[in-house]
Amino acid sequence: MNELDSEVMAGILERRGFSEVTSEEEADILIFNTCSVRDLAERKVLGKIGRLGKLEKRPLIGIAGCMASSKKEALFQKVPYLDFVVGTNNIHELDAILDEALQKRPVTRVSPQFTEELDYKRAKRKDSIKASVSIIRGCNKFCTYCVVPYTRGREVSRLPESIVDECKTLADRGYKEVMLLGQNVNSYGKDRPEWGCSFAALLGRLNDISGLERIRFMTSHPVDISDELMVAIGALRHVAEYVHFPLQAGSNRILRKMNRGYTVEEYLQKVQKLRALVPDVALGTDIIVGFPGETEDEFRQTYDMVEQIGYSNSYLFAYSPRKGTPSTRWADDVPKEAKEERLQKLIDLQNRITTSHLESLIGKEVEVLAEEESGKDATCLKGRTRTWYNVVFPGSSDQLGTLQRVVVQKVINQTLFGTIIT
Ligand code: 5AD
Ligand code: SF4
Repeated sequence: MNELDSEVMAGILERRGFSEVTSEEEADILIFNTCSVRDLAERKVLGKIGRLGKLEKRPLIGIAGCMASSKKEALFQKVPYLDFVVGTNNIHELDAILDEALQKRPVTRVSPQFTEELDYKRAKRKDSIKASVSIIRGCNKFCTYCVVPYTRGREVSRLPESIVDECKTLADRGYKEVMLLGQNVNSYGKDRPEWGCSFAALLGRLNDISGLERIRFMTSHPVDISDELMVAIGALRHVAEYVHFPLQAGSNRILRKMNRGYTVEEYLQKVQKLRALVPDVALGTDIIVGFPGETEDEFRQTYDMVEQIGYSNSYLFAYSPRKGTPSTRWADDVPKEAKEERLQKLIDLQNRITTSHLESLIGKEVEVLAEEESGKDATCLKGRTRTWYNVVFPGSSDQLGTLQRVVVQKVINQTLFGTIIT
């Protein structure tokens, strides 16, 4: 979502006459679009901005994103030479913010709720084959560790006609794949029952757009995945068979403490149903280790779940307390070393699982969207399978943006290598 927001901001800047430069020294404006989800992300960006203080000629500096939304004016104390703060829900005001900041700094615009329809069509896109499309913003779930509901506000769905229109425009411009974005795409439309458009129904409408080859989406909250949606993923030709389906923990006590809204048993039932309705579906997950009070045995239950489910990839995190979230009422009592050890065990397990999934594809045929050139002399192309695995194969630039049938020959560093079937 931040990457998409950055593309929208870049579009606004370009219309003001700015152009992109590659180094900080050359820049007249620098905007840091920040993430607050983990402590490390915040420390990294503050370190980076801190180093800019040494620049001889300082550009206009702004902080956008979740850190802007959560820390607001307090950021000016942390970074005295900061010029403006633009919240996740205020990107549409960037022009006005810049006008003001050029007159008299500092400027802060942070709203708790997303309301404005952004000018997505004039975003400055980084890619010409794949595009991110925002469909719902905010989150109503309030997992006890998570800062997102406080930085991005409540769920606000985007009008289906506006999404369809944007996707049609993208397809007309030659885009082949869209990634539908939301903190919880599965609750799309629930805040606007009068529209009568569920996420499954939206997928159906997008599936009909001519030229659009692949539709991806993330993130899917396990509580809100409906039977209708599972059927749609299985039935719709252009919807890719990959579901990012965060488990977070494999112990019922920890899941309850996290306020995830499901038990391990309920989660497994949904996975079984999904696998029955979408036979080749690949699953991804997010896991947090070292949540307050997590015992070795409870970690073992998470480990066993990851092994049992056999995710194709996982995003693995060590718990870090976020200011203002409910989990801070419990001591962050799992020692750093234990968190790191648990994380490493899961990383090793996931690497083994992913490698074995990939090796099982050797000799098989996969459908790949040729997304970019690869290799020093650009004699290869790189793309993804429907199930989100990376594939490299000999090919030329005129094949970019096309779907290819590739037979897999080997696996190196979790990437498939193969050749096009002519
Ligand atoms: N500590 C560690 N990981 C977190 N995540 C969210 N909040 C925290 C936190 N306080 C992880 C979750 C979420 C992903 C985007 O980031 O796993 O799904
Ligand atoms: Fe955060 Fe939970 Fe919402 Fe995901 S579902 S954004 S983890 S509160």
